[in-house]
Formats: sequence, C-alpha cells, structure tokens
Amino acid sequence: MEQTFAGQRIVITGGSGGIGVALARDLIDRGAATIVLIGRDRDKLAAAAAQLGAEVQTAAFDVTDEASVAAFFADQPKIDHLVTAAAGTVRGQVTELEVARARALFESKYWGQYLCCKYGAPKLAEGGSIVLFSGWISRKPMAGVSTLAAVDAAVEALGRTLALEIAPRRVNTLVPGMIDTPLWSARLSAEEQRAHFQKVGAGLPVGRAGVAQDVAHACRFLMENGFVTGITLDVDGGQR
Ligand SMILES: NC(=O)c1ccc[n+]([C@@H]2O[C@H](COP(=O)([O-])OP(=O)(O)OC[C@H]3O[C@@H](n4cnc5c(N)ncnc54)[C@H](OP(=O)(O)O)[C@@H]3O)[C@@H](O)[C@H]2O)c1
Repeated sequence: MEQTFAGQRIVITGGSGGIGVALARDLIDRGAATIVLIGRDRDKLAAAAAQLGAEVQTAAFDVTDEASVAAFFADQPKIDHLVTAAAGTVRGQVTELEVARARALFESKYWGQYLCCKYGAPKLAEGGSIVLFSGWISRKPMAGVSTLAAVDAAVEALGRTLALEIAPRRVNTLVPGMIDTPLWSARLSAEEQRAHFQKVGAGLPVGRAGVAQDVAHACRFLMENGFVTGITLDVDGGQR
C-alpha cells in the first residue's frame, strides 16, 4: 500500500467513534507515524487503541471545554493533519425541543470544532490541513432536525472562511450522508439499525448504505490533495 502519510502525526477528535476508528486504520495502513485519538470516554479510547496498534495515542477530554482543548494543543508538537469528527446529535422540532438541548448541540458540534481549530491551527505543519465535519441535513432538509441543519451549515461556513484565514494551510468540510456507525445506536436497537440501513441503502442511487470506510476514504482525499481547500465534500451515496 502507498505510504502517503509516512512519518505524519494526525489528531482525530471523535477518534473512538465509527468514522474516527475507520480513518485511523486507513491512515496507519498508509504509514502514519502517530495518530492521536480524542474522545470523552477512556474505555472507548482504550478499546480503539487496542484494536489499532502501537501508532495510536489517546487523550480523554470534552472538546467543548476550552481549557482542556487549549492545554491539549499546547502540549502537541507539530501536527500534519487535524480531523474534527467529535460531535453529539439531537432531534426535535424547534417548537418542541428544549432550548438547552439545542444549545448543547451547538456547543459540541460547532464550538467543539471551532475550539479545536483555534488552538490546533497554530500547530499545523507547513502543508498541513484541517478536515471539519458537518452532515447531509445542512442541504437536504428533513423535519425534526432543524438544529442539526443549522449547526451543520454553520460548520460549512466556518470551513470556507477559515481556509482563507489560515492559508496556505488547507481547510475542508466533509458532509457525510446517513452512515451506519454507532452514532445511530443511541436511538435504534441493533436490529432496528440493520433494518434502517437496509432500507436507506435500497433507496440510494448506489444501492447500498454508507459505511465508515466510505467517509474515511473521502477524508483521506481531502488530507492528501494539496490543491483542494475551502470545499464541502458530500459522501452520501447520491442521497437527494
Ligand atoms: N453517522 C452518520 O450517519 C453521520 C451523518 C452525518 C454527519 N455525521 C458526522 O460525522 C462525525 C462522526 O460521526 P460518527 O458516525 O463516527 O459518530 P460516533 O460513532 O457516534 O462517534 C462520535 C465520536 O465523538 C466523540 N465525542 C462526542 N462528543 C464529544 C465531545 N463533546 N468531546 C470529545 N469527544 C466527543 C465520541 O466519543 P465519546 O462519546 O467517548 O466522547 C466518539 O468518539 C460527526 O460529526 C457526525 O455528526 C455522521
């Protein structure tokens, strides 16, 4: 396999999640020297690290906590790439969802990524990049997820502008469609999740559901291609 990440140091927030682990595997297979996985739950991080191997370090903190984010990046040497995939999620119409829960999603998915950019960007090596995460709901409206739609759109706007502010370092935003990861298990039983993704896959032009490796592959493209910056890349199986 081509060692395109040979010797590189890569930080992945949400590194113990479905997409984070798939990306770490992909990058280790391509020579990454050190992957730092960030999440809140130490056990989940340890399980991910055990599965991935010696190249992996972990750091347990909440990306909404500015002091923790600042302290983490202050201790980091130069980073080649920063991937900010940590986020919670929330459902509920504007008229029904408690405001505190809507604000909590902004804290985790928008401000969490903002803080990591603020403190992580100064540590980026020459030729380094940031990959932010939004989601398909920003551009394909669905009733009941208005807060998530607004957060995702805010992340995309941040990415486009930050790409100018920290140039020549690059910033891109990945826009996953519905992807079969543990994110869904908070709401669905294993059986319901299987049935849900069978139905989703059957309705997509590509004829199958998305998996974490599909997003990892697209993320790697954004990290590797030195002529791509300020874009939002949909990885959604053609979902409309
Ligand atoms: N899967 C989909 O269908 C889908 C669709 C659209 C967009 N996305 C986006 O893709 C990204 C990755 O999703 P995924 O499917 O891999 O989710 P996942 O499997 O649920 O993983 C989420 C990861 O984020 C960490 N995390 C959550 N909140 C955190 C916080 N406040 N501080 C630090 N770490 C935190 C979790 O670990 P701890 O819980 O231990 O902290 C976990 O490692 C997210 O931005 C998500 O919104 C996913």
